[in-house]
Amino acid sequence: MAEWVKVCSDSDVPEGEIRAYTLPDGVVIAVYNVDGNFHATDDTCSHGEASLSEDGVLDGCEVECSWHFGRFNVETGMPCASPCSIPIRAYNVRVIDGYVNVEC
Ligand code: FES
Repeated sequence: MAEWVKVCSDSDVPEGEIRAYTLPDGVVIAVYNVDGNFHATDDTCSHGEASLSEDGVLDGCEVECSWHFGRFNVETGMPCASPCSIPIRAYNVRVIDGYVNVEC
């Protein structure tokens, strides 16, 4: 059953930035702030083992992985630039009382 997990305060992730958080099951996710809207995906790039929170650069709604310059849409997890071709998991996100919650 889906569960909402409070991962951070909305002030922990400044606009245009990415932060990593670990879910209760041990999965590391990347949380993105796109113009005040929060999104979350798995942190690991599907092309290699890059951490998108550490090695990624947010460009609008896309994160570019600096290892080989592949890209993902942070809202859907869909790849949008080669060599990335496998989607990464995207999570539903909602902000409640100033805290970012992720459905997992
Ligand atoms: Fe991310 Fe290759 S590891 S694009």
